Amino acid sequence: MMEKAKEKSEQNHKPKGTDEHVIVIKGLKKSFGEKHVLKDINLEVKRSENVVILGRSGTGKSVTIQCIVGLLKPDSGSLKVFGDEVADMSEKELKQLRIKIGFLFQSGALYDSMTIRENLEFPLTRILKIKEQAEIDKRVEAALDSVGLLDSIDKLPSDLSGGMRKRAGLARTIVVNPEIILYDEPTTGLDPITSREISELILSIQKKYNTTSIIITHDMECARLASDRVVVMDDGEYIAEGTFDSLHKSKNKIVAAFFKDIL
Ligand SMILES: Nc1ncnc2c1ncn2[C@@H]1O[C@H](COP(=O)(O)OP(=O)(O)OP(=O)(O)O)[C@@H](O)[C@H]1O
Ligand SMILES: [Mg+2]
Repeated sequence: MMEKAKEKSEQNHKPKGTDEHVIVIKGLKKSFGEKHVLKDINLEVKRSENVVILGRSGTGKSVTIQCIVGLLKPDSGSLKVFGDEVADMSEKELKQLRIKIGFLFQSGALYDSMTIRENLEFPLTRILKIKEQAEIDKRVEAALDSVGLLDSIDKLPSDLSGGMRKRAGLARTIVVNPEIILYDEPTTGLDPITSREISELILSIQKKYNTTSIIITHDMECARLASDRVVVMDDGEYIAEGTFDSLHKSKNKIVAAFFKDIL
């Protein structure tokens, strides 16, 4: 248990409705058969905060964010988004919630047969049900401009490089103006320079749209650039949290292992 985090959360506690904390997770548990993946997850994410989750492969980072969007149901504990318990939500409420949460999948998940413009129009017409073409054009162009891809609006995903596809995926995530963005390994598979560009974009999106984000990454440069706060996950729990610089000095062996190559 993280005593410091607990103390901090109690100090910051505000009654429901003030919206100070956008995501509040307490004592979250999730097992798959005999495999106890999440043992005791506690996390509070404030509005406009970027929280990075570090953790070894298979520790349950992706499972955590799948619980946040209600794709997986936790076994016990509490997980509230905007003050409401996700596990108690009806399908209709979950649908409403997912409109407010952007999810950047590892692959970018663009439709290959659609142009970049069509890929971005899709959530606007299908999810937000926007009908006015002028409004759609305005939003699509603004989102592509934010990621520096306006020039590629009429291209197919296959015409773009990996880094550009990642940016297009990011544009499709922000085109619906989500309040929360969950990034699952946004820089994996990219070269260091492109990774840095994506990390800087994550930061600029936070500033521009005031989004609250959880960023799962193994990329320490991304963690350094994009995080307001970092939590380290190990064996189903969060074992440390703090700013990137404060964790950098940690004596904890598991935490230190993540920072070993950082000067
Ligand atoms: N739907 C599922 N059914 C059964 N087991 C699952 C399911 N989803 C995840 N797991 C198991 O839960 C564990 C944690 O998976 P998870 O994908 O959250 O890891 P991760 O921390 O995101 O790892 P990585 O860094 O490799 O992405 C793994 O052992 C995985 O096999
Ligand atoms: Mg994962």
